[in-house]
Amino acid sequence: MFPVHRPRRLRKNPIIREMVRETSLSPSDFIYPLFITHGRGIRKEISSMPDCYQESSDMALKSAKEALSLGIPAVILFGIPEHKDSLGSGAYDEHGVVQEFIKRVKDKLPELYVITDVCLCEYTKHGHCGVVRDGEILNDPTLELLAKEAVSHARAGADMVAPSDMMDGRVRAIRQALDDEGFSDTPIMSYSAKYASAFYGPFREAAESTPQFGDRRSYQMDPPNRREAIKEVSLDIEEGADIVMVKPALAYLDIISDIRNTFNLPVAAYNVSGEYSLLKAGARLGWIDYERVMMEVLTSIKRAGADLILTYHAKEAARILNK
Ligand code: PBG
Repeated sequence: MFPVHRPRRLRKNPIIREMVRETSLSPSDFIYPLFITHGRGIRKEISSMPDCYQESSDMALKSAKEALSLGIPAVILFGIPEHKDSLGSGAYDEHGVVQEFIKRVKDKLPELYVITDVCLCEYTKHGHCGVVRDGEILNDPTLELLAKEAVSHARAGADMVAPSDMMDGRVRAIRQALDDEGFSDTPIMSYSAKYASAFYGPFREAAESTPQFGDRRSYQMDPPNRREAIKEVSLDIEEGADIVMVKPALAYLDIISDIRNTFNLPVAAYNVSGEYSLLKAGARLGWIDYERVMMEVLTSIKRAGADLILTYHAKEAARILNK
């Protein structure tokens, strides 16, 4: 009988569809970003990222608790310091906003896995991810500061550090510093293939980290490059990365897939601020079915090969998955 092959047989009802489903999402795939600010009782919505907040540590603790109760195992922390300077000293201050929050959250919620973003851009006046001299972002002098920052996070109790600066050699510098200071068990999740993307726009409002001159194209990757992502990831693995990340996610699914197929390390993908804001805008305008689009996007990132997804949708998606 024609046709012999009828793929629709396996789509007949929800039971068989679920039985043959190739990709599934779980709240345990998610890492939830938190923006920690100084002060008390502060919960300020980020205008370009509805339902995301800059929070003082007391409020962020509540958010972290909620994430955990929804089955999200991990958070990643970004700090908004009280003062910025040219060397980003708030980044490696033992009483910095992130360091203080780590101590608090590990004390109150020891079962929450705490990852820190290691970068200088939120802490420098010029908003760049490294040390600046004569308009240039210097590589090697930055490594020492990043290593100091990573060690100070580990010392405060962070479970994992995640460098996002894109300086060459930073994974090795951080690995060495952590090992020297007795943190040889602290893993590094490297933002390995991080592109110079316009999708970070809303985050820069959230983290108050917009570069005050120029842009990040001399350190973040050029979006048209695909093979170069393999090179960046191999270097980070050689230098000691435990998990490698692709960022952004949605416009870079080919890169996630390449990395998954080329290496055996866990792969993370960052579903970044602009990807999130677009969906929120579409929902506000009534143009899309927000929940379905969100789940489809997250599933696509997992299907492309990501084991872990950093996403602002984490709580909303977990609520749907837990139903
Ligand atoms: C810091 C950093 C950025 C993001 C994560 N870490 C911004 C940037 O590189 O400009 C972006 C996250 C997002 O857009 O959600 N270097």
